Amino acid sequence: MLNLTDIFKKIKLPFFANFEIYFDLGTSITKIAIKDKGVILREPTFLGYNSRIKDYSFTGTEAKTILGKTPDFIKVVRPIVSGVISDFDAEVFLLQKFLERSVYLYTGNKTIKPMMIGIATVPTIATEIEQKAVKEGLLKIGMSQVFLVEKPLATATGAGVNIFSHEPTLIADLGGGLIELSIVGSSGILSQKTLRNAGDQMNKVIFNYVYLKYGIILGETTCENLKIDILNFKNTEKIVVTRGKSLENGLPKSVKIKSSDINEALRSNFNQIIDGIKELIESSPPEVVDELMQKGVILTGGLSKITGIDKFFEDELKLNVYCSDKYENTTINGLIKLTSNVDSFSKILIA
Ligand SMILES: Nc1ncnc2c1ncn2[C@@H]1O[C@H](COP(=O)(O)OP(=O)(O)OP(=O)(O)O)[C@@H](O)[C@H]1O
Ligand SMILES: [Mg+2]
Repeated sequence: MLNLTDIFKKIKLPFFANFEIYFDLGTSITKIAIKDKGVILREPTFLGYNSRIKDYSFTGTEAKTILGKTPDFIKVVRPIVSGVISDFDAEVFLLQKFLERSVYLYTGNKTIKPMMIGIATVPTIATEIEQKAVKEGLLKIGMSQVFLVEKPLATATGAGVNIFSHEPTLIADLGGGLIELSIVGSSGILSQKTLRNAGDQMNKVIFNYVYLKYGIILGETTCENLKIDILNFKNTEKIVVTRGKSLENGLPKSVKIKSSDINEALRSNFNQIIDGIKELIESSPPEVVDELMQKGVILTGGLSKITGIDKFFEDELKLNVYCSDKYENTTINGLIKLTSNVDSFSKILIA
C-alpha cells in the first residue's frame, strides 16, 4: 500500500502538469494562493442568498458590503463558523466563484486543464467529519487530490518558525472565528488551546456595549470598523462620531464613541486570551516552559494588527511578544513554504 509520502511524490512527477492550489478557509477571510504567484485571492467569506431565485446573488467582498442593507429576500450567509464549514453547499458555491476569479486566470481556458491539487489547513479542533467536509468541498470544486495540514503548523511556518526543530515555540493566531494558541515543535503540535471568542464575537460584544451605554443600535460592519479603527493598547484616545438607530424612537442617532469604550468592552475578551496563554505555558513540562520563556510568544492573525497589542501582552505575560509582520497571510504563506520539502511535508499531513 502506498503511504502519504509515496502518493505525494507520485503526483509530483514532472511529466504530470499539476497545479498546487493553497487554501486558508478563514472564518472572516478566505485566502487562496498558488506557488509562483503567492496569494492571488483574499476575500470575505460571505455570500448573499436570494430567496426569490433560490440562489446566491453575491459573493465575497460584494456580499460583505451589503451586510445590513439588504431587502428581505436577500440573506447574508457565512459558511464558515469558528473555523469550520457550517454550510457545505454555500461554501462550495463560494469556493467555486473564488476559483473562477483567481486560479482560472492562471490555468487559462485550455482544453486539457492541469490537474489541480488542493492543499488546505484545518483548525486543530476540527473533528474528522469537519476535516472531511473540507476535503469533499475541495474535491467538489475540481481538485483531483486534497491534502490537509493542521493550521498552527502552517501559521508558525509563515511566521518564520522552523516547526521541525526541537525547540518549541508558542504562537497565538488571533483570527475572526478562532483564537488558536499553540505550542509547536518537533514536527507537530505539543499542546494547544482554542477559544471561540475571536474577532467576530468581539464585534457582537461592541454591539452590546454601545447598545447598553449609549442606547443606540449599530450595524455589524460599524461595530467591526470601531474595533479596527479606534481600538488600541497605547492609551491613544481616538473619538469617532458613529451613527446608529435610537433605542427610544428608532430614528437615526449619532454618538461619540471613544477608544476607551472599545477597550473597556473588549477587556474581558483579551484577558481570556492572556489567561489562555498563561495556562498553556503553565501546563507545559519544565523544559518546554524554560524555552518558551526565553523565546517569547508570536502573535498573528487579524487582531494582532491592533496597535500596541504586543506591548500590552508583554506587560501582562512578563515575556517577550512579537507580532508577525505578514499577519494577513501568515497561514497560507506558511502552507506554501511547507510544501517546498516534499519529504518533511508528507510527515505532517493529516492522514
Ligand atoms: N487592524 C485591525 N485591528 C483590529 N482587528 C482587525 C484588524 N484587521 C483585521 N481585524 C480583525 O481580524 C479578524 C480577521 O482576521 P483573520 O483574517 O486572521 O481571520 P480568519 O483567518 O478569517 O479567521 P480564522 O482563522 O479565525 O478562521 C476580523 O475579526 C477582523 O475584524
Ligand atoms: Mg485564520
